[in-house]
Amino acid sequence: MADRWVQNHQQDSWRRQAKASGYRARSAFKLKQIQEKHKLVSPGDSVLDVGCHPGGWAQVAVELVGESGKVVGVDLQSCVPVEGANLIVGDITDAHTQSAVLESIETEVIDVVVSDISPHITGKWDIDQAVSLMLVAEVFDFSLPILKYGGHFVTKIFQGVGVEEMIDLVKPHFKFVKRFSPMASRNSSSEVYLVCKYHTPKKGPDWKIKPAFERALEEREGGLMPDEEVEPAKSTFVVKRKSKE
Ligand SMILES: C[S@@+](CC[C@H](N)C(=O)[O-])C[C@H]1O[C@@H](n2cnc3c(N)ncnc32)[C@H](O)[C@@H]1O
Repeated sequence: MADRWVQNHQQDSWRRQAKASGYRARSAFKLKQIQEKHKLVSPGDSVLDVGCHPGGWAQVAVELVGESGKVVGVDLQSCVPVEGANLIVGDITDAHTQSAVLESIETEVIDVVVSDISPHITGKWDIDQAVSLMLVAEVFDFSLPILKYGGHFVTKIFQGVGVEEMIDLVKPHFKFVKRFSPMASRNSSSEVYLVCKYHTPKKGPDWKIKPAFERALEEREGGLMPDEEVEPAKSTFVVKRKSKE
């Protein structure tokens, strides 16, 4: 009960701060805190914001890149325009939307991809978490070919089955891959951000994350009896309780 009160109080506090600062969503503070710790975006950068509705991260990205930079966002839902950003409506896994994004980026490569993508939450945790990781794999596969050498990528993930496998698959593409839990993420949530820095493109036919991820999950489930539960692989990452005030 007390925990829930503290959690609600903290969420309200971020919401109030977002309103006072002119941000559309408290999630804006998550990107600000990721940036503070990991310095992903620099002035003049081009940034792709995946899952950008209602536009909180796009607002922060526009501030970070400044006038010489570029921000392109994409979401299933349309956003009220954000000055300085081009926000596209569509499904990032759909070829038409991907073409629209590439057209809007204009350059051959992009400096940073920030993805807060989250599927429609059904409330069935296992399903939501699994669908979320598949979406993340698709965002990687779309983004990696257009992410510049040395570029950065951050994505929301939900802790659970498959996360360790995903991280193992992503590591060969970047020099630095680490989970980070910003203060503005809810205490009770298993939401964390996977911060990937210094893109070092993996060459060869098997560079894609999604097919390899599906294979890794199949292998993990292969040895199980039909009604055995899949245990998440062991992780040393712990989301610490946060006290903000
Ligand atoms: C947590 S919200 C993003 C909040 C945003 N970062 C902000 O600060 O305003 C997650 C978003 O992912 C979007 N999304 C989910 N699946 C998607 C898909 N396949 N393509 C594009 N956007 C998607 C949802 O519509 C939702 O708006």
